[in-house]
Parts: sequence; structure tokens; C-alpha cells
Amino acid sequence: MDSLEGLRTRLIVEGGHRLEGSLAPPGAKNAALPIMAASILCEGEVVLHRVPRITDVDVMAAILESLGARVREQPGGTLVIDAASINSNIAPYALVSKLNASFDVTGALLGRFGRAEVPLPGGCVLGPRAVDMHLHGFEALGANVDLEHGSVVVTASQVSGATIALSKPSVGATKNLMLAAVRAHGQTTIENAALEPEVVDVADFLVAMGAKITGQGTSTIRIEGVRKLHGCEYTIIPDRLVAGTYLLGAAITRGDVTVTGLDPAMLSGLSEVLASTGAAVEAKGVSLRVQGVPAWKPVDITTAPYPGFPTDLQPPMVAYLALAKGTSHVEETIFDARFVYVSELLRMGADITVSGRTAHVSGVPKLKDAVVAAPDIRAGGALVLAALAAEGTTEISGLEYIDRGYEFLEERLAALGATVVRASGVAPVTPRPDMGNTVKLPKIVTPFRVQPS
Ligand code: EPZ
Repeated sequence: MDSLEGLRTRLIVEGGHRLEGSLAPPGAKNAALPIMAASILCEGEVVLHRVPRITDVDVMAAILESLGARVREQPGGTLVIDAASINSNIAPYALVSKLNASFDVTGALLGRFGRAEVPLPGGCVLGPRAVDMHLHGFEALGANVDLEHGSVVVTASQVSGATIALSKPSVGATKNLMLAAVRAHGQTTIENAALEPEVVDVADFLVAMGAKITGQGTSTIRIEGVRKLHGCEYTIIPDRLVAGTYLLGAAITRGDVTVTGLDPAMLSGLSEVLASTGAAVEAKGVSLRVQGVPAWKPVDITTAPYPGFPTDLQPPMVAYLALAKGTSHVEETIFDARFVYVSELLRMGADITVSGRTAHVSGVPKLKDAVVAAPDIRAGGALVLAALAAEGTTEISGLEYIDRGYEFLEERLAALGATVVRASGVAPVTPRPDMGNTVKLPKIVTPFRVQPS
């Protein structure tokens, strides 16, 4: 989507509709991307199910194809990746620069070929995206790390197991170092590892390919290197961040939404906060229900690594707190600059001041429609929620970000009772009377590659 197209294509969101119904979230972006990179490690075919149909997945697929892998899509969110034909360990800047998660191919290429040449991830609106812990970890595994023409060149005649203590529980470093260590000689221990469910899913996928890993989901992950990995069939975990966005949609529209097929514990940080604002939160088996209330209380939040309050739900939560009865304080501890979107909420009549890494959110009686632009994925989610709750009809551009993380957003919202139109000539999508409140995806033509079955 070029910039002009990006400007032209926007979501038109009619405010004032309660979200009601249930949905099964798509697969997790932050698990699918590293798992696609991990497929490099096996000289066979992997079949991945519940792969989200989002543009980040397209970019990662293009990176794998540029390395020589064959990637086939099958209806319903299935990807078949055959990495046997990989013939390069140099990842192209044009693609890598679009996707921070693409740096995960470094560990996989190092683990399989003993060499990887990958452009250093650039910063993004969230602030610097350093990878020093990744690089120190590769060095601990016996690799040489150089920076040449903006690319990291990691080489090792032999990758050898080591103990790596991370200075903080970095999601990216934990995943990348697991990929580098599963075919190493000997045992690797990652201490202060990240606990995120997506990290556990990557480890479980590697085990499904024959890797020997224990301790995933704890701060100490142990990996016994094996010589080879084999193909497998694997289903990606549901996306808790997408699910959390829809549940916040229920709260901000005073609606009632249930997400199904997800372990509610994965959203404990969000559930606790929502309950403390007065919303009704009910976990039952593998479903989580949120019912909004007419008026909600402010709350103070500090984002933290899992199982704390996720930084990726901070923007949608701030949109919700912008309508609370009182002032909330939201401290962002993971990224330096994750309040860029606040200026767009101010355009909708919110009352928020940011000092350092804390947003002071003074609730207002109502938000009003405006023309706004999403600066990143989760900020896009926040603006959609604000628009659903606002008076009038809001126009949101920056879909190139929203489409990176939210699969079939307007269709899913429409099936929950919203009126949302993607203004690029696509017909308005409103719920058909026969759809009731249960999400059934209509036959749609997406800008992505797959025609959903
Ligand atoms: C992952 O990013 C997610 N991305 C992010 O989601 C998420 O916000 C983040 O984890 C935290 O949960 C993917 O999984 C693709 P980190 P990542 O390594 O791996 C610093 C979304 O919207 N750091 O835990 O980059 C780093 O700069 C995205 O889906 C170092 O200083 O997260 C950041 O400030 C946005 N040196 C902090 O740690 C390092 O070597 C957390 O980074 C590595 C990280």
C-alpha cells in the first residue's frame, strides 16, 4: 500500500454502537512471525495452522522466499513452508526494514548455516529497538558479530551451548537465542528469559520439530542442542492482544463480548485492571467475557513484562480510560515513546497530558468524531475503540499499520454490531440480520493473498 493509497484508504467508524457477541481470536502475530522464522531450522516442510492473515505475515513470508524457501498458503489461515531449498543467509533490507520481528531470522540462519547477514532493525515510533542482548547472546554461543554496511553479520564455525543471562526479560532476545541454540553443540541456559505466551509457543513449536527445550514459561530456559530438526504440523496460539482489544471494545461501548478458544490466564493483567474500573469480567473454561458498565472508574497502571499489564494493550486501555469518571495514571516502562498516538485522541476531545513515560488521563464525558491517523499497530486499535465510543463518524487513516496486526478488523467489528467501512470503494460492511451475534466471517475480498474459504 503506497503512501497515497495509505492516505486514501481509511476506516469510517460510526460511533454509538454497542459491541455484542462472541469471537474466536485469530492466531498470535507475535508467535506466528518467529515461528515462521524458526522453520528455517529444519530441512523439511512445516505446516502452520491459524496463521493470522495480516501484512506482517506477508512480509515474513517474502523474507523466507527471498532466502530460497517455498511458502504456500492454503485457505483458512494455513501456511506450508518448505525450507529445504534455502540457499542464502542474507536477508534483504527492503523487507527487513518493514518488520522488526524479521530480526528473528538471524538466530535461525546462524543455527542452521553458521552464518547470518541481516540488516539491523531500525527504530520505530515506539522508540529505539535495540538488539544488544541478541548480539551478546550470539557471541556467548561462540559467534563472531560484525556490523557491515548497516547489517549484522554473525558467523560461527561451530555454535556451542552457553549460559546467557539477559539483563532484562527481552521477548525478542529470548526467541532469537532459542532459535540459535536448538542445533548448537551442548547445552544452553537462558536466564531471566521472557515469560510471554508467544515465547512459550515458539519453544513448543521447536519441540514439535524435535528440539530439546525445558523451562519455557519460566525465567530459566534450558536447551539441549540436537543435530537436526524435522518437519511438523503446528497450530499457533490465539492472539491475546487482539482478543484484549475486542474486550476493551466491549467495555468502552458499554457492550458485552466473549472471546472463545483462549486461556483467560493469558489476559490476567487486563482482566484485573478492567475489573477494578468496574467492568464485569468473567473467565469460564477457555472463554473470557467482558460486559461494560454505564460509568467506569479511573485506575493507575504500569506496563510490565508478562504476566504484568501488556504494553501492547496500553494504547487501547488509554482510549477506554479517556472516558472514565476521574483521572488515571498510565506509566509505560517497556518502550521509550509509546504515547505518540495521544495527540490523535486529543483531537477527539480527550484530556490527556504526558510527562516523561507517564500519561495522566483525565476522563471526559464524551469523545467526538474527527479525522485521525494511526502511527502504529496498537495505536490504531486505540483509535478504532475511541471512534466506536465517540459521537458522530470518525475517519481513521494509517491502515497500513492496523492491517499489520488486526486480521479482518472491520468484518469482525461488524459482526459484533459496529458500523465500519473501509473507504477504498469496499462496500460498507454491516451485520446482516441472519448473522445474529455470533461471528461468522462473510465471503470477502481482502487486500491480502488468501481468499478465505
Ligand atoms: C516484542 O517486541 C513484541 N513484538 C512487541 O509487540 C511487544 O511490545 C514487546 O515484545 C514487549 O512485549 C513481537 O513479538 C514481534 P523486547 P520486542 O525485546 O521483541 C529493549 C506489537 O505491537 N531491548 O522485549 O522488540 C527494547 O528496545 C509489538 O505487536 C534492548 O534494549 O520486545 C525495548 O525497549 C510492538 N536490547 C524493550 O527492551 C535488546 O537486545 C523490550 O524489548 C532487546 C530489547
